Amino acid sequence: MARIFTSNWKDYELIDAGNDLKLERWGKIITIRPDRNAYFTPQLSMGEWKEKAHFEFKEITRNKGEWKVLKNDVPQEWQLSFKSLVFNIKLTQFKHVGLFPEQAVNWEFIQDNLKPEGRFLNLFGYTGGASIAARAVGADVFHCDSVKQINAWAKENMESSNLNDIHWVHDDALKFAQRELKRGNKYDGIIMDPPAFGLGAKKERWKIEDKFAELLETTMGLLSNDGFLIANTYSPRLKAKQINEIAKQYTGGKRKVEVNVLANKTTSGKFIEYGDLTRIY
Ligand SMILES: C[S@@+](CC[C@H](N)C(=O)[O-])C[C@H]1O[C@@H](n2cnc3c(N)ncnc32)[C@H](O)[C@@H]1O
Repeated sequence: MARIFTSNWKDYELIDAGNDLKLERWGKIITIRPDRNAYFTPQLSMGEWKEKAHFEFKEITRNKGEWKVLKNDVPQEWQLSFKSLVFNIKLTQFKHVGLFPEQAVNWEFIQDNLKPEGRFLNLFGYTGGASIAARAVGADVFHCDSVKQINAWAKENMESSNLNDIHWVHDDALKFAQRELKRGNKYDGIIMDPPAFGLGAKKERWKIEDKFAELLETTMGLLSNDGFLIANTYSPRLKAKQINEIAKQYTGGKRKVEVNVLANKTTSGKFIEYGDLTRIY
């Protein structure tokens, strides 16, 4: 399996990583955040990291904590660009800042493969990186997320990117996809980024390794004949072999299935691996 990673993004840089932490530059602002996938030794010393960084996230419980200010007079919210896309960056208490930078490879793939007259569906859409990338090529875009405030953040990103008319769907992703299937709607591009653990339509708890087949079967049913589907699965419990088998079952051998590793590369050449990136087309 190949590592698929972003290069060539002026406004974002993974400066260094290691000891379960990463040092990242977002425009002019540099952060230190925990990342359990950075299990190796960093290139630079912690002293050098602290000299560079403006903010450091301190975990209080797993994935929840607070940001320590390391340099004064730095805004807590700012903007970042990826080509024509503009994102609003905010320091959240869950260590995230509103973007998963490794996803930029998907935004590029979408822009290279989606036609202006195409229809695009983003399930588990978060702050809308993929939705905005698709809308920027002219496609008719449906963005679905079950958290209202997240959809509002995605809308803000759309407006900052000088785009309009994305259809915002506040719903359970699988439930919405199943309804679209019943209505006979088709999409020329679909991306889904389900969390490792999710909450379903009736607030029931599910694990991606149990839910993936149903999600894939439903989304494959929504795909137009020459459409593409991208699935990100960040869970180590869902193995590439299993993804391949499920994907082959629902494509009936009629489409190409590629499962690779979604990664990010530090300036010094180390890789953080995030899980599997599946492309079906
Ligand atoms: C891992 S994030 C997706 C990140 C996105 N791919 C990106 O790069 O910007 C998962 C998102 O799924 C949403 N979510 C979780 N469970 C959901 C469900 N059952 N239906 C719809 N959205 C859900 C969360 O609110 C969150 O925004």
